[in-house]
Amino acid sequence: MKIVYWSGTGNTEKMAEFIKEGIIGAGKNAETVVVSDVNVDELLKEEVIILGCSAMGDEVLEESEFEPFIDEISTKVSGKKVALFGSYGWGDGQWMRDFEERIIGYGCTIIDNPLIIQNEPDDCKQECIDFGIKIALA
Ligand SMILES: Cc1cc2nc3c(=O)[nH]c(=O)nc-3n(C[C@H](O)[C@H](O)[C@H](O)COP(=O)(O)O)c2cc1C
Repeated sequence: MKIVYWSGTGNTEKMAEFIKEGIIGAGKNAETVVVSDVNVDELLKEEVIILGCSAMGDEVLEESEFEPFIDEISTKVSGKKVALFGSYGWGDGQWMRDFEERIIGYGCTIIDNPLIIQNEPDDCKQECIDFGIKIALA
């Protein structure tokens, strides 16, 4: 399974690593890929796609790398199971509600609920691992 993410200061990246730990612990393969390195054709071979991005701008996805990537895959992901996650700061999670609605609009099924964690995820490591386990079993 591939976990594609964007992270400015490393918080979403840490979430990605903890989620990976959960997936591997549940007996599946997992690798993290920073969005600027993703091979979209390879990614689209996967039945399950795991996407992470922190809240940026004014409750939006990061605009120079992650947003174009989502735009690129938008017409190619119908029917896939997608898990969403990301770190945020001062907002109430609106960026992730909008992201979820978009992904559903592309014809995907959302695994569990998107996992959002405020700021640095160290205290929520187990929550991330549990999310990874749910993804592995989805
Ligand atoms: C340019 C910028 C814009 C941000 N916009 C929001 C926002 O709209 N809502 C929010 O909750 N947090 C916002 N934040 C806070 C980040 O989402 C938060 O620091 C998060 O932990 C960063 O995770 P990352 O290290 O994975 O990028 C913003 C941070 C930056 C630097």
